[in-house]
Amino acid sequence: MKTRNLLFVAMACMGLLSPMHAGVLKVETPNTQLVLDATEGQPLAMLYYGDKSATLEDISNQQSAVSNQMSAVYPAFGDIDMIHLPALQVQHAGGDLSLNLSVQNSEVRSQINYDELCVTLRDKLQPVTVRVYYKAWKNVDIIETWTEIEHQEKQPITLKRFDSGYLHIGEGDNVWLTHLHGDWAAEAVVTHEPLTRGLKVIRNTDGARNAHLDAPELMLSLDGAPEENNGRVIGAALCWSGNFELRLNAPNNSGIHFYAGIDPQSSEYVLAPKQVFTTPRLALTYSTSGMGGVSRAFHKWARSCGYLHNGNATRDILLNSWEGIYFDITEQRIIDMMNDIAAFGGELFVMDDGWFGDKYPRNNDSSSLGDWVVDMRKLPGGLQALTDAAKERHIKFGIWIEPEAVNTVSELYEQHPDWALQVPGRELKLGRGGTQLVLDMTNPKVQDFVVNMVDDLLTRNPYISYIKWDANASIQNYGHVGKGYSNNLYIDYHLGLLNVLKRIRAKYPDIVIQNCASGGGRANYGLMPYFDEFWVSDNNDALQRVFIQWGTSYFFPSNAMAQHIGGSPYQMTNRVIPIKFRCDVAMSGRLGIELQPKHMTDEERLQCTIALADYKSLRPVIQLGNLYRLNAPQSYQPVSSQFAPAKQDVAALMYVTDDKEEAVVFAYSLSNFMKQAPQRIRFAGLDPEKVYTLEEKNIRVQYNHDKNAWDAGTPCALHGKQFTGAYLMSVGLILPLCTEYTQDFPSRIFYLR
Ligand code: GLA
Repeated sequence: MKTRNLLFVAMACMGLLSPMHAGVLKVETPNTQLVLDATEGQPLAMLYYGDKSATLEDISNQQSAVSNQMSAVYPAFGDIDMIHLPALQVQHAGGDLSLNLSVQNSEVRSQINYDELCVTLRDKLQPVTVRVYYKAWKNVDIIETWTEIEHQEKQPITLKRFDSGYLHIGEGDNVWLTHLHGDWAAEAVVTHEPLTRGLKVIRNTDGARNAHLDAPELMLSLDGAPEENNGRVIGAALCWSGNFELRLNAPNNSGIHFYAGIDPQSSEYVLAPKQVFTTPRLALTYSTSGMGGVSRAFHKWARSCGYLHNGNATRDILLNSWEGIYFDITEQRIIDMMNDIAAFGGELFVMDDGWFGDKYPRNNDSSSLGDWVVDMRKLPGGLQALTDAAKERHIKFGIWIEPEAVNTVSELYEQHPDWALQVPGRELKLGRGGTQLVLDMTNPKVQDFVVNMVDDLLTRNPYISYIKWDANASIQNYGHVGKGYSNNLYIDYHLGLLNVLKRIRAKYPDIVIQNCASGGGRANYGLMPYFDEFWVSDNNDALQRVFIQWGTSYFFPSNAMAQHIGGSPYQMTNRVIPIKFRCDVAMSGRLGIELQPKHMTDEERLQCTIALADYKSLRPVIQLGNLYRLNAPQSYQPVSSQFAPAKQDVAALMYVTDDKEEAVVFAYSLSNFMKQAPQRIRFAGLDPEKVYTLEEKNIRVQYNHDKNAWDAGTPCALHGKQFTGAYLMSVGLILPLCTEYTQDFPSRIFYLR
């Protein structure tokens, strides 16, 4: 790595060595640029973030005409004017709360895949240093920003606010915010709202998980109501797994001021002299092709820049035992399920919760977490018998653990009650099952325990190739034994967790690890660098899954999204959904099955077998292709169309390969009325010049009365037909959905070649 330490060198290597623009720095991605004024001795200011059409002259001419468009890059308390909130606030030992930061120097490190700019700021009075980083990727339009805070004061200082980044959007009053909120079993609900004057705060204070209620990502549409494929949109994702705060402030006519970072509430961080505090990365993108452009940038960045473990690999098709047998694990039941998934053509079996506990068997959720030994009453042959059975059936084997948790009813808790987070002297607040606590991941002994437990499991059972890592509790007991109340707990918990994950990944880079937290409670880019996928939701109702997966796809790529075919009627909603629709909905991401195969009808078995076979041939396109969301479910349209019960509500999306040679289209009808007006779907992302042949996939099975059995179905009339990319994108197709069905929830999958 080349390190150059002078401003003029930085400018030279960025092609900006013009005396007219002394102090101007720029970082670039293929289609975007971020321009700063880093004049020595002056505050670091942002001049521009947007596409590359703007020249430096354009930018400075615009600046000169509008007085309030120039903004400090990292506004610090003590330096801010009335329109800014602080992105940084420290308290020095004597109580002084202020900083006056100015540029000391800057440096650029150029690597093959990115340029990294670091501007060092110094306080004018105290020995406090802040380094502001921008890492610009050369293959994708993402710029990551973060800061390092360090001081040489005699006493510790307190960080009272320490955002990762700040962005000024100098637009008028028609900026729309898109963000996700939700709950357990109802994750990633999309909200589109116009930003009005005043402060809008999005935050999560769960402590351990940060994506169930409000998620650490957002989009800002600069041209009014968001559109899928048009308009200027900024996307932001805070790469952090703990509490966060995203603030959007529109105090006056100066536009939108966006701040993102760790939530400082109950987390003021005490920083010792010379200790470096590094804020989490804030990934920013800017697209001129709508929300879809932002999503595709995040997906590509996750896959190819290390933000999704093994991001460019496809994932196996699995059967998970949870909703099929819950805690009722026996060796026979597990082996039966392995037979079933092998017969369907699946590739992996995952044994979920319920396999462990010696003194306290895990028969329900009120005991045993922490006791990671096989319950030999349920599994007399141990894990060995199961992994041998998997090997014989040519399928892989995976296992569920919840390493950061303990039940008060467990041997671990009896031996180490002090390893659980708790406030000494106060009554424990207990979570799931009435006995669950969170382990103190800041404690090095607990970190070793977790690393060794995973290591032991994988060393003793080398055939295990997949781990489902769950986290089902929030931090409710805010304290540690020995340390009592600690300002740093909410943050150090996650630094401890990251340390554990890094150690595990160093030894086991190839184990597939699923990130689960009561469903999608930990879908964030703080953790995904260590995980291959995440459990999108505990809710497997295919109708609600269309919505949950729709929202999740705004920021996360399809090979990271675990989507399972659930049972019907579905236990949470009691909804009856045909197997064809359930398969089609699960097939748009990483496909799996989660039900008791024994209870399936012949129709369901045949449809599943066809779905799995077709999925294998489509998998590279679905899991690694570029996503185009075509038609949002009606209630997710940013400007709601007039409600008309006779109009079909169709959700449609597609994946297209980089070379535009292949694509897969999914269309789901969410309403089914007689004589509904059909919905025309315009495709996207194709080559207008190319001619595409449509092939229907996962064709609905039909009953053969001659054979008295279920049989392969007949494809619809579009099967085998050819269309130009231009026609498919500008005119679009009316897909045969309701018209040809006599069943609720019609859906279709087409392969385009
Ligand atoms: C959580 C997970 C589920 C399942 C259960 C097991 O709720 O989200 O998928 O693993 O725990 O207890």
